[in-house]
Amino acid sequence: MENFTYQNPTKLIFGKGQAEELKNEVPKYGKKVLLAYGGGSIKRSGLYDQVLSLLKEIGAEVSELAGIEPNPRLSTVQKGVEICKNNNIDFILAVGGGSVIDCTKAIAAGAKYDGDAWDIVTKKHTPSDALPFGTVLTLAATGSEMNSGSVITNWETKEKYGWGSPLTFPKFSILDPVNTFSVPKDHTIYGMVDMMSHVFESYFRNTTNALLQDRMCESVLKTVIETAPKLIEDLENYELRETILYSGTIALNGILQMGARGDWATHNIEHAVSAVYDIPHAGGLAILFPNWMKHNLDVNLSRFKQLAVRVFEVSEEGKSDRDIALEGIEKLREFWSSLGAPSRLADYDITDENIELMADKAMANGPFGNFNKLQKQDVTDILQASL
Ligand code: NZQ
Ligand code: ZN
Repeated sequence: MENFTYQNPTKLIFGKGQAEELKNEVPKYGKKVLLAYGGGSIKRSGLYDQVLSLLKEIGAEVSELAGIEPNPRLSTVQKGVEICKNNNIDFILAVGGGSVIDCTKAIAAGAKYDGDAWDIVTKKHTPSDALPFGTVLTLAATGSEMNSGSVITNWETKEKYGWGSPLTFPKFSILDPVNTFSVPKDHTIYGMVDMMSHVFESYFRNTTNALLQDRMCESVLKTVIETAPKLIEDLENYELRETILYSGTIALNGILQMGARGDWATHNIEHAVSAVYDIPHAGGLAILFPNWMKHNLDVNLSRFKQLAVRVFEVSEEGKSDRDIALEGIEKLREFWSSLGAPSRLADYDITDENIELMADKAMANGPFGNFNKLQKQDVTDILQASL
């Protein structure tokens, strides 16, 4: 293992009816609350009315930021920062998926900074303060509800970057599986692909003696693989939603990553793709990940073999290690396709036209990936294989 320090200050409030806890949590941080949400799903599901009436009960003065887009944009962050500054906001409540939460993190830090929030996203400015914020999660996917990461897109320059700060952990996150019942099938699938991808990013590493981390990663993968086919046929099943909601949080709240530095190259390539084409994050991951795996097979064949055998239950008899590893990758592709996830960039009408541009964007901060450092040619090859 590598040396590590682990601290996760987010209070996780999980289960049916837990939105009521807003009445205990929000008053700790002040009266002036910015309610941040997306394009309207919370109004259709009734969650908006419920949250607003809980906030009214505790006498909160509520301002609103509506319309945070999937792949949240810098312009919306800037709008949120203005609202916070003009209204002396004490606390932000994010109600939505990863995009709403990520946008809220950037607003929270931006509200305490005199310059442009893009300086924070591009790491030109390190936040020294941030507004406190909490979340009511409505979509199981990113883990943003219990980590400090945020991914923001500058649509004008077509750049999408991740950033984070110890100041941008949510103070609390309320996770009620019922609030995820209305997530449509496609986003339910994307969410499960995303959480599996977070585990893969953690699993592919060069750290030795991380036996427990391996087993914990494999457990999350097997749980999602077992649950996903049932959930897509039964979207309002409480227990299935509960399992997936918990899996998404565990996949990226730092627990699987303790003492073992993951790869994260595929996420970097995907961010470049969705910066140019604005496709769903996990749609991009479903296409790219198996191709990243094939490209890096020989970096450490035994890790791919272990995944194939332990998670995808590939039989070893009479096969070379390479064949076993490749069969595991094929099984992953088949599994995601069986759910209905995309498998080629062509599924989003993406051709080879902008491969160079996407590769350049992925290379913005130089060679990347901790399992294997990718150069521009590697990225181009992975994108070509994904067409
Ligand atoms: O905007 P609304 O109307 O709320 O609709 C959303 C959106 O259209 C809808 N939705 C969410 N909850 C719903 C619902 N529809 C019906 N019922 C509900 N209960 O789903 C759509 C997608 O929402 P979004 O928040 O964009 O999805 P997700 O949670 O997958 O977040 C994706 C963003 O997170 C970033 C991605 O890059 C992308 O920008 N990531 C953030 C990470 C982090 N902070 O740690 C890590 C991830 O790897 C990822 O990069
Ligand atoms: Zn992701």
